[in-house]
Amino acid sequence: MADGATAGPIQVRAEDSGFGAEVTGVDLSKPLSAGTMAAIRDAWARHAVLSFPDQPLSLDELEAFTLQMGPFGDDPFIAPMPGRPNVLELRREPDEKAPNFGGGWHSDWSFQPAPPAATILRSEVTPPVGGDTLFIDAARAYDDLSPTMQAMLAPLRAIHSAGRPYGAQGLFARETEKRAMKILYSAEADKTHPHPLVRTHPVTGRKALFVSPTYTVGVEGLTDMEADAVLGFLYKHLLQDKYRYRHKWRPGMVLMWDNRCTMHFAEGGYDGHLRVMHRTTVAGDVPV
Ligand code: SIN
Repeated sequence: MADGATAGPIQVRAEDSGFGAEVTGVDLSKPLSAGTMAAIRDAWARHAVLSFPDQPLSLDELEAFTLQMGPFGDDPFIAPMPGRPNVLELRREPDEKAPNFGGGWHSDWSFQPAPPAATILRSEVTPPVGGDTLFIDAARAYDDLSPTMQAMLAPLRAIHSAGRPYGAQGLFARETEKRAMKILYSAEADKTHPHPLVRTHPVTGRKALFVSPTYTVGVEGLTDMEADAVLGFLYKHLLQDKYRYRHKWRPGMVLMWDNRCTMHFAEGGYDGHLRVMHRTTVAGDVPV
């Protein structure tokens, strides 16, 4: 990590790559001043994934912090916590054998017309091994493409769908192993929605690749074989180590990531141990 820097009222320690940063000097359980919120937003724009250690927020406090970032997003296909329509519990019991939730590269709910800007995840119970969350810097990956490739991608629209995991014949519909989380798979998930393959961040103005192996099912105007070739290259490019940030959890951490310029992956590797996280999303814009 780079040396800590004071960013107004908070301390920000960025990863050497600049992608990912740890934020201290703030208590997220309290209403935050305009200055503190501005400093958090600024750090988030610079680093895309912010971790806040030692923030054992109650669910009310998690909701209140989320609402300071913006209105709740719409979370489909997973039953929310009882009495908390905007909070998901990501729970995996020690005896579960089903693949862990989030174990494919994706940007949250990218199949929606206006996918969430942020996801906020708070760790309640973390396993003694595994359970890391990995992130990809899709803006730097875009920057590193040749001008010729950037020009080729510029007019393309990628087709997104929730069908592979959540569709009527999707992975969750077909699984036989028991799962603590209640997944609401349905034919609704098989709908598709196009977005620019390269999107421009509404705050930073940076361009980022906006595709993922979980939710991107094609590219408008390309045959399946052509789309597979383009997307296959982009995934190989995106998934290089140099674009990765690995987040290691401790209990009572809050992590906030920007779905507009990142992909993430819940790595698993903690069979036999309980993992419990609480998740909210912040509504976002129509990608342009
Ligand atoms: C997700 O939101 O995709 C899951 C992340 C995690 O559980 O680490």
